[in-house]
Amino acid sequence: MAESTISVDGKEFKTPVLSGSTGPDVIDIRKLYGQTGVFTYDPGFTSTASCESGLTYIDGDAGVLLHRGYPIDQLAEKSSFMEVAYLLLNGELPSSDEYQKFTKTITRHTMVHEQLATFFRGFRRDAHPMAIMCGVVGALSAFYPDSTNINDPVERTISMHRLIAKMPTLAAMAYKYSIGQPFLFPDNSLSYTGNFLRMTFGVPAEDYVVDPVIESAMDKIFILHADHEQNASTSTVRLAGSSGANPFACVAAGIATLWGPAHGGANEAALNMLREIGTPDRIPEFIARAKNKDDPFRLMGFGHRVYKNFDPRAKVLSVAATEVLDKLGISDPVLDTARELEQFALKDDYFIERKLYPNVDFYSGVILSAIGFPTSMFTALFALARTVGWVAQWNEMIADPEQKIGRPRQLYTGPTQRDYVALENR
Ligand code: ACO
Repeated sequence: MAESTISVDGKEFKTPVLSGSTGPDVIDIRKLYGQTGVFTYDPGFTSTASCESGLTYIDGDAGVLLHRGYPIDQLAEKSSFMEVAYLLLNGELPSSDEYQKFTKTITRHTMVHEQLATFFRGFRRDAHPMAIMCGVVGALSAFYPDSTNINDPVERTISMHRLIAKMPTLAAMAYKYSIGQPFLFPDNSLSYTGNFLRMTFGVPAEDYVVDPVIESAMDKIFILHADHEQNASTSTVRLAGSSGANPFACVAAGIATLWGPAHGGANEAALNMLREIGTPDRIPEFIARAKNKDDPFRLMGFGHRVYKNFDPRAKVLSVAATEVLDKLGISDPVLDTARELEQFALKDDYFIERKLYPNVDFYSGVILSAIGFPTSMFTALFALARTVGWVAQWNEMIADPEQKIGRPRQLYTGPTQRDYVALENR
């Protein structure tokens, strides 16, 4: 085993260098503090592996994203969201029998406790769907306490199935509530994605026919968002779970983290930005703003913490966006603006030097808007898909014998110890 030596004030600390199945080696610094009395400093975890994981591998420079070894473009093209969910949860692609059994199990969990509908009615009608999702997903632990014993693998599996199955129902309810239409019960004769589309866009007064073009595009978007290694929301789910919190509460914490515009909120922000740009002739003005250090404006949907050459998910969705809009016969000026902005930025030195490329959010917003979702729903759809990754990573962590409560250290820069001064003497 390779070894590394860290020298602190002349004191040498020898420690193993661990190798994964692929990717950079990692220096094991678990004993660093005990043996040298120093911490490492790494805000944003840019050089720190927080766990061992066998789910997803990303090579940001090569634009590679693998789930359990399978490239994302192959999964997006050839498989379904349910198959990817099975793969992430179980490690292998399902056999035909396993696939049938899994989809049936998920389908059987799509309904939510009727009392949850009352819970929804406590929200303002104009509440953001993510605000509702933070609340109702956290509340699931109150409705399903029989699957919150994290030390029981059977209860863990039930809770993971419940979360995956109920997210489409809850996301569709959040949408229906915001537009004042009645909630639709799930129709278990439909696919996972078809069912979600019907609960979102159907009405009780009419039959809803699922459009296969939309169903396939939606399923692709779900696949592309299913998991993404130790990103901010997944790390939050793991950190919350490391204390022994139940999975519903942990996923609610993930939803809260995903909501931010630097993470899952970026597709909403990207589409809003494209609408604000409006027409391609205004692109130079916005590019100039993005480059101006005195202007906080950033090109939303550009740049990624890990992908520094291209985002493989953006590649898949760039093609899908054109396909969907062509098949639906939609000509959207937002897509024209998106295409021109992409070309403009890819030729600009500022973006080239900083390796800023369109990320998955740049295109997903265009497709979701064409399907008919309001921008406020975009992040809720991301949360729906990412629930698979969250629960798979959470379960992997609970089963990991090396797992400990997450407790980062800090570089303290506040006042040193001083004595309290009475109010009248200040
Ligand atoms: N527009 C303009 N300039 C940018 C952008 C952008 N979108 N992103 C980064 N930069 C610039 C920064 O100003 C910085 O410039 P400097 O070196 O001159 O100071 C440089 O590029 C590096 O930026 P960092 O913020 O240090 O890069 P980091 O890896 O920390 O940030 C992030 C990545 C948060 C995604 C950032 O690129 C960003 O804010 N992008 C827009 C939001 C977005 O699309 N987020 C989606 C992420 S993907 C996802 O969650 C699915």
